[in-house]
Amino acid sequence: MASPSIVILTGAGISAESGLGTFRDEGGLWAQHRIEDVATPEGFARNPQLVVDFYNARRRQAAEAVPNAAHEALARLEAEHAGNVTLVTQNVDDLHEKGGSQNVVHMHGALNSALCAACAHRWPAPLKMQVGALCPKCATPTARPDIVWFGEIPYQMERIEQALTRADIFVAIGTSGNVYPAAGFVQLATHVGAHTVEMNLDPGENVSLFAEARAGKASETVPAWVKEVLGS
Ligand code: APR
Repeated sequence: MASPSIVILTGAGISAESGLGTFRDEGGLWAQHRIEDVATPEGFARNPQLVVDFYNARRRQAAEAVPNAAHEALARLEAEHAGNVTLVTQNVDDLHEKGGSQNVVHMHGALNSALCAACAHRWPAPLKMQVGALCPKCATPTARPDIVWFGEIPYQMERIEQALTRADIFVAIGTSGNVYPAAGFVQLATHVGAHTVEMNLDPGENVSLFAEARAGKASETVPAWVKEVLGS
């Protein structure tokens, strides 16, 4: 059999051991902030300073964080696996890139990117974004975090669906399976006959949809799985 085509979806849990908070665990980000205030277009329109401050704080934490063994194992898989590997992340940190992954699909955007709300131009975000910063392209004061907020369309969905329709293996790592469309990827993968694996500290909402579930910390379960796939 040709080398299996693998699609991986990661969530906040893969970055937890690097010190970045998850959303729905005890004391997580959504226990500290109201989603409607900091992760919706309406919240940004209502109080842009609160939103910009929220992402500035997360950008600063992410800048200081280091990738863990799970990020590094996925980079090794991408480099050494003969078949296709598509890494899709819901995370907006850059720990996959810092861990050596070259080709990361950030379906919920990225802290290190800024977006112009007027002309959709993107540029590298400053560590500390200012409200009303000028877009370098159209010079209007419409800079915003390049984050997909609730109610907005995730990025690169066509590319993700293409990869899922060709998947032989689909793995979800460190995600609670609460947010769609990401939480529905396992169904599409199952539909095309892929083997599906969930790797989580606690079972996700949609764990029953997976053929296999491996409980534990990502820094342990992911390197072990990558070793299995690479046969070493
Ligand atoms: N190793 C593996 N899994 C872990 C670890 C760890 N060390 N720590 C926590 N987890 C698991 C939890 O058990 C949980 O299932 O990570 C998952 C984190 O779930 P959420 O906090 O809901 O994060 P995520 O699934 O990525 O959220 C999805 O929701 O708010 C939106 O846009 C935001 O991208 C985010 C999306």
